[in-house]
Order: sequence, then structure tokens, then C-alpha cells
Amino acid sequence: MPVRIAIPAERLAGERRVAMVPAVAAKLAAAGAQILVQKGAGKACHIPDEAYEGVTLVDDAQSLYGQADLCLKVQPPDEEEIGWMRPGTVLVGSLAPTRYPERVRAMAAGQITSIAMELIPRISRAQYMDTLSSQASAAGYQAVLIGAERSGRFFPMLTTAAGTIRPARVLVLGAGVAGLQAIATAKRLGAMVEAYDVRSATREQVLSLGAKFVDVDVKAEGEGGYARELTDEEKARQQAKLAEHICAADVVITTAAVPGRRAPILIPAAVVHKMKPGAVIVDLAAEGGGNCELTQPGEETAVGEVLICAPLNFPSLVAYDSSEMYAKNLANLLALMVDKGELAIQWEDEIVAASLVTKDGEIKNDWVREQLEGNES
Ligand code: NAI
Repeated sequence: MPVRIAIPAERLAGERRVAMVPAVAAKLAAAGAQILVQKGAGKACHIPDEAYEGVTLVDDAQSLYGQADLCLKVQPPDEEEIGWMRPGTVLVGSLAPTRYPERVRAMAAGQITSIAMELIPRISRAQYMDTLSSQASAAGYQAVLIGAERSGRFFPMLTTAAGTIRPARVLVLGAGVAGLQAIATAKRLGAMVEAYDVRSATREQVLSLGAKFVDVDVKAEGEGGYARELTDEEKARQQAKLAEHICAADVVITTAAVPGRRAPILIPAAVVHKMKPGAVIVDLAAEGGGNCELTQPGEETAVGEVLICAPLNFPSLVAYDSSEMYAKNLANLLALMVDKGELAIQWEDEIVAASLVTKDGEIKNDWVREQLEGNES
């Protein structure tokens, strides 16, 4: 039996991405899968229904979910969507399992097999499936465009008949996937770029992109290639040193995150008050509480002459290309789940095993179970 792969329209307010784009859907269909797409699923990122060739268009979400063997999503399904899925349906998407514990429990109760893209291990062979990276890259790019647009400054040096304009100064705090893309984008626009991260491995990466590395003498390598949380003494030392660079910048892009923790504060309120008039902070860490003490997640806040921009879903702002990257990541994961157009999940594969959240009525992922039990007590 060919597997029926369903692509619903996303329902979260402000979400413009879609989990599957026509070119990738066509490849899955050519491999023998039956692709069902909800009408209008790609509309918000300007993909018309007619662009999906070789698929079946379905009028409404409930009927789509009811027919699916395998469901592909960008955002976690809400409880109504979970209720529409048949027992045994396999759901793959960014499920934010610790943010929505009640949905994880509903998926377990509904006998749904759920696989969370953000739990895919960050090992070399999983790079092609890494939605955290592809979407962070889109976010880093978009953050720079927002900063450039809001700052009222040219990014490049301009030599004109009206004189020479100095390039804008951009500071990127946190040089992970999003930060490195932000550095590259700001450099392409011609800005003078400085960057900082607590992981020493980033120094070379920052320099290789042509930016200056800000030396703070605080190193905080944690587990699995991530940063650890800083001690109070380290935080104070870091903030004091960074303040000089923050106050000299026209645009500050912040991307610092520590898995499972509130985003670290790198820009205290007192430093915002000392920034240049017209400076812009673009806080990519808003979902985790923000890297600036005065960030209001989801808002644009003026503090004196400084603007703090903190959209909550940066990849959705560049929805067409983010969707394409996301769909390719999903298709690469599906290589471990679909064979000759039929559902054939390789349960023993470490990528599948690590990203499995619920199956057979249980929460299978130890980390998610511990987090959910911790929330209960
Ligand atoms: P992330 O989104 O969790 O954090 C962003 C950045 O913030 C990180 O570079 C982190 O070091 C930095 N940070 C944390 N606390 C900070 C502080 N107090 N001050 C300044 N910076 C701070 O990280 P992301 O971008 O998801 O990547 C984390 C790691 O995973 C990196 O080592 C990256 O190279 C690695 N990675 C590996 C992949 C693979 O091998 N397949 C794929 C993607 C990423």
C-alpha cells in the first residue's frame, strides 16, 4: 500500500511556512508515495495549489488528517488537529514537546507516533535533516535585514558626490548557526562586523567570515557542542566587556541560547540607555526570553532613541525559502521512514530513535518524559 503523506495548512497565527514544497512533493510522489495537500496550504508563502503536481488536493483539514498515514507539519498540531488524526498516524514536525506538554500527552493518548525534528541528533549524517540549522540560518539572514531597514543607516561605505558615508557597525552576539548567517549577511551588505560567542571554536568561524572577534576571556563550552550557562562572576565580566562594543554599534543582533535554559541576558537595561541614538537591537532569542533585558517578545519596543525588535518567528518572515529548506530536511528524514513508496520506519536507526516522542500510547523519549514529569511536580 502506498503511504498517504498529508500536508496540512499551518494554523498558528503568523505562520506562513508550509511543510512541503512542490518540487520535493513531486519527488516523493515519483518514489511511489501518495501525497495529499490541503487546499491553500502554500498560499501564505505564495505557492499556489496548482504548483503541486501529482498530488491530491483535499478541501479541509479534518478530512485530510483522517486520511493520513504520515503527516508533515511545521508547527506543533493543536489539540483539535491531534483529535483528527487516526490512531497509528505518524506525525513528523517541529513539535516543541516541552513547551506543549498537554499536546504530547494528547498524542500519546491518541496512539499517534510522533517524531520531533528538533530532537534529531546533531551528528554529521543528520545535517541534511537539521531543521534547527536550516531555520536558524533563515532567521540570522532575516534579522540583519530587519536591522538594516530599521536603523536609518547605510550598511556599506558609500563614496558619493555628497561625500563619503562610513559603513554601519554591526555587532553579532552568539555565533551559532543563526549568528554566523547574520555575520555573513551583514558582511555581504558591507557593514563593519564584530561578533562574540562563549564557545572558543567560534573564533575561527567568525574570522573566516571576515568579521572581528570580540575577546571577552569567558569560555563556556558545554555538552554536545552547546554552550553552558555562565556563573554570576563570568556574566558580570562578560557584560562589562561587551558594553563597550554594544555602545559603539549601530545594529546589534543577538542570538545567544543555552538549551533548556532562559536565554542569557547579554544587554542589561543600563547598557540600552547608553547606546547610540538610532541604534537597533534585533533579538533573535526572544522566544527564549530574549538576550536584552528590555526585550518584549513579539514586540518592537522603543527605549529612548533605541529600538528593540523581537519578532517571534523569524523563519516565517522569509517563508518561501524557509519552507523549501524545511521540506528538503523532512524528505531526507523520510529516507529512513519510507521505502519504495511504503511506510517502512527504521526504528533502530539512531536518528529515528532519538527523535521519537510518542508511540503505542507512551512517551518514548526519556528527556521529554523527564521534562514533563518535572513540570508536574
Ligand atoms: P544555539 O541556538 O543553542 O545557541 C546560539 C549560540 O549562542 C551558540 O553558538 C552558543 O555558544 C551561544 N551562546 C550561549 N550562551 C552565550 C553567552 N552567554 N554569550 C554568548 N554566546 C552564547 O546554538 P546553535 O546555533 O543551534 O548551534 C550550537 C552548536 O551546534 C554549535 O556548536 C554548532 O556548530 C553545532 N551544530 C552542529 C551540527 C552538526 O554537526 N550536524 C549542525 C548544527 C549545529
